[in-house]
Amino acid sequence: MVSSPNQATRILRNTSVAITAEGDGLGVVERAAVVIECGNVAWVGAERELPSSFADADVHDLGGRLLSPGLVDCHAHPIFAGRRADEFARRARGDHYLDIAREGGGIMATVRATREASAKALVDLACTRMNYALRSGTTTMEAKSGYDLTCDGELRLLKIASQVGQQHAMTMRPTLLGAHALPPEFADDREGFVQVVVEEMIPRAAHEQLAEAVDIYCDEGAFTLLETRTILEAAKRHKLATKAHVGQFADLGAPQLLAELGSLSGDHLEVVSDEGLAAMGKAGVLATMLPGACVQLRMAPPPVAAMRKAGVAMAIGSDLNPGTSHSESLPLAMWLATTHYGMSVEEAWLGVTRNAARALGDASIGRIAAGSPADLVVWNAEVPAEIPYHFGVNLAARVYKNGRTVWDASAND
Ligand code: NIG
Ligand code: FE
Repeated sequence: MVSSPNQATRILRNTSVAITAEGDGLGVVERAAVVIECGNVAWVGAERELPSSFADADVHDLGGRLLSPGLVDCHAHPIFAGRRADEFARRARGDHYLDIAREGGGIMATVRATREASAKALVDLACTRMNYALRSGTTTMEAKSGYDLTCDGELRLLKIASQVGQQHAMTMRPTLLGAHALPPEFADDREGFVQVVVEEMIPRAAHEQLAEAVDIYCDEGAFTLLETRTILEAAKRHKLATKAHVGQFADLGAPQLLAELGSLSGDHLEVVSDEGLAAMGKAGVLATMLPGACVQLRMAPPPVAAMRKAGVAMAIGSDLNPGTSHSESLPLAMWLATTHYGMSVEEAWLGVTRNAARALGDASIGRIAAGSPADLVVWNAEVPAEIPYHFGVNLAARVYKNGRTVWDASAND
């Protein structure tokens, strides 16, 4: 990892194009230049229009390459211990995710490993994952809890996320996912567990400012619609944003609830009704696409055409987790979103930039605009389509975080 100490004014010039994610569509600017001052973007536009007031700046020639905003991963579970490669192998042979979970595997297997791991081990594991993510262009990542399922343990995972954010260049955006699965201690007392989430986890996470949002897994084999309402309404009372894993296997009616509550996003949505999408579109709730999990579980893709028709904006997440999507790579998710989901190249880029930022409730990132943080990626590519098109290799050449170079592939050749 390289880190340049230089905070002087810098001009990045000689791009093929820059994706600014501003205005309509991708906001592509041909032969763009970007000026960085004090960690923020001070100016962006066509190089020939660069104001002469920046004449003294330190100039970096990008060699005619593509420049984009730092990618935003709006759905990720990066704080966990253990591995589930054995389950992967079973699924590859045809076993089903929900059957493995019913046998005590799945999320509970990771809960057991995570509860046993020390804070230091969890921080180290997450930092390694952040290295992979940063090197493939991600500069902001959500960090869900959800692999402990006790109040103290969930708060411990959120504190670990914050420690990772302090130690690593990646910005971590913490989400409480206390209702990820029903823990064995509450196997015969669902209501008791919901009460722990509502009366202990959410108030403490809000009071100690450990989470920005509350998530819940509302699906077959997970939590019901009523439990989801109880938990997300509690989150709202504590001024936390809301979101939910919905329709991965079954549509329990959660999209309408998310619309009613003004949630940030509904995530997965392989199974969703037209009524649910209409409600989401009307309320401005985003659909977060998680093609890594969808493809791995061999699900049919979500109804992307119906989402467009309903005016539902689409974000794309890695869904980095040890079970269904063990990948830190958003470029790979963009490839799956274009090839398997039929999203356009433009939708895929917006899904990991501007729309992903919206799904985190933060419009200041995921774009290149004056005043926004200088989180930028230079790609070994010339046109936007090359990133999903040339899959399975890392095309990120250089990553800037708040104006500093935090990854330079050529320095690590
Ligand atoms: O988004 N669906 C629930 N949660 C994760 C999977 C978690 C796991 O299997 O460990 C998901 O796919
Ligand atoms: Fe998830």
